[in-house]
Amino acid sequence: MMWAEKLGKQLGRPTRSVAGWLVSKLLTARNQVLEENAVKLCGIQPGDTVLELGHGPGLGLLAAARLLTEPTGHLIGVDYSQYMHQMAKERIKELMASGKVTLYHCDVAAMPLADSTVDKVFHCNCYYFWPDLRKGAAEIHRVMKPGGLMVSTMRLSNVATMAAKRVMPGENWRPEAYMAALTDSGFTDVRMEDKRHKDITFQAIYATALK
Ligand SMILES: C[S@@+](CC[C@H](N)C(=O)[O-])C[C@H]1O[C@@H](n2cnc3c(N)ncnc32)[C@H](O)[C@@H]1O
Repeated sequence: MMWAEKLGKQLGRPTRSVAGWLVSKLLTARNQVLEENAVKLCGIQPGDTVLELGHGPGLGLLAAARLLTEPTGHLIGVDYSQYMHQMAKERIKELMASGKVTLYHCDVAAMPLADSTVDKVFHCNCYYFWPDLRKGAAEIHRVMKPGGLMVSTMRLSNVATMAAKRVMPGENWRPEAYMAALTDSGFTDVRMEDKRHKDITFQAIYATALK
């Protein structure tokens, strides 16, 4: 297998292995800014139900949980890597024990969540790995409350570089592809903005669930 394909497989679904462990270190070191800004941009209120897709090692979960200070405030995380599910569980075990956070080891395209129950959704570096963007977008739309906001953050220049080296398969990494899937699935006000955090430029994709 080519190195790019190997890296892509581990980024897309890290396994408990040397390569998976290295990828988890890379994610933890490189993506904290994206995770924390996605949390900030989705405007979490203290009593919200919030969902993170593809949380990986779990830094975004920690940042979001801190904002859910009311008793009704609840955080849900989904990731279909068994290794990442376990790693995040370890990182947030106190929050899980108190009932503030629930993690599911499942696919974004089939989440064990009831219809129209989530206020805010965020994710970083995740959608490029979904085999079917429309299935993912439709499932996010299904679980969101009417008017709920979804935010996805990425560093587009890095993603484009990796895609050119075939780390990301196909064309799903393109923001236009994901935004089209969101619009087709019933989201409105779908847009991408350039953002800055200190010396880092990143992009945020926004979508509001219309129901
Ligand atoms: C590149 S990592 C990003 C992790 C973290 N959000 C970050 O930015 O550091 C992608 C994560 O999304 C998860 N993932 C990808 N596709 C998924 C899907 N269809 N369902 C659930 N999790 C998925 C992977 O297992 C992995 O943990």
